[in-house]
Amino acid sequence: MQVIENFPLKNLNTFGVAANAAWYVDIRDEEDLGALFSQDRWKNCPRLVLGGGSNMLFTSDFSGLIVHVKIQGIRYEVKGDDVFVTAGGGVVWNDLVNFCVENSFAGIENLSLIPGSVGAAPVQNIGAYGVELQDIFHSCRAFEIASGRIRVFEKEDCGFSYRDSVFKSALKGLYIITEVSFKLSKIFKPELTYGAIGDELQKRGITKPNIKDLSTVVSHIRVSKLPDPATIGNAGSFFKNPVIPETQFLKLKSDFPEIVHFPATNGYIKISAGWLIEHCGWKGKVVGNTGTWKNQALVLVNHGNATGDEIFKFSESIIESVNAKFGILLEREVNIF
Ligand code: EPU
Repeated sequence: MQVIENFPLKNLNTFGVAANAAWYVDIRDEEDLGALFSQDRWKNCPRLVLGGGSNMLFTSDFSGLIVHVKIQGIRYEVKGDDVFVTAGGGVVWNDLVNFCVENSFAGIENLSLIPGSVGAAPVQNIGAYGVELQDIFHSCRAFEIASGRIRVFEKEDCGFSYRDSVFKSALKGLYIITEVSFKLSKIFKPELTYGAIGDELQKRGITKPNIKDLSTVVSHIRVSKLPDPATIGNAGSFFKNPVIPETQFLKLKSDFPEIVHFPATNGYIKISAGWLIEHCGWKGKVVGNTGTWKNQALVLVNHGNATGDEIFKFSESIIESVNAKFGILLEREVNIF
């Protein structure tokens, strides 16, 4: 383990924006973390834990230490119909999904092709196509920076909610997730509530999908809607879908009867942020080096040489216009540095 000075981050964030870190270190195992944080210098330094860099926007150079978690390894244990799969925090999320799909370990297939790393997945409780990480999460190991100890978090310790967890709120910056365990099943129960999945299966003439079919169809839907970060810089959904009280929703619906919405928990309604942004005229718009994606207005893109600051300012314009038209303040899903 070696701390490197003045490290370029352009290839380490899926927006592909240029920024430098004052210091950078690769972490290969829990012992590396112990050794690093036994030094007061790093314990007290501003730091950022990096996984796949798929949910962050650098608006300037980072004046602290980037801790890049690269802990590898996937193992599993079968207990009756349950399969407990454990992966290192640095495993590429989709490599884990493919491993499970190949082995017919069910439950994770709707989360196919999400960019990012296993260790970052619980932090924002990733989700797509009717499944959230919390539905399959069993536990995780995390390194406590202050004490140098490993703590095991069970599901109930993690405070999961829509794109949120304790690692993003109450315990932000205090722990580094080193490995995550998932409770999957040998019995495949397809989650088909997301409309486009059924449509795509029908198109392919598949009436009884297997786990591989579902993974393929989900991947196809993602590719058709979302830009590939390898070719167009982006960080997936830039904003969260806002959740508003039903009374506010009913008022909005009388002004905008077409508003796309979904039921949320008691008395609240989730509104499609993509629809709000599109109906402010932003869908597919190119502004300088940035813009929104032509097939999904919720995704902000880097058309080439955008700076993080340019993308951030563009997101401010979107927030302002959505607020002016609909009275809803969008919240960013992407972390800003
Ligand atoms: N819509 C529009 N215009 C748009 C985009 C969406 O009108 O430009 C409307 C359409 O009616 C569409 C509906 O909104 O049917 C929902 O759109 P979509 O299925 O693309 O889902 P989303 O709510 O925009 C969320 C997640 C995605 C996830 C998809 C599928 C958030 C913030 N985003 O997007 O997650 O893949 O559902 O489950 O919850 C991510 O977090 O980075 C991400 C990509």
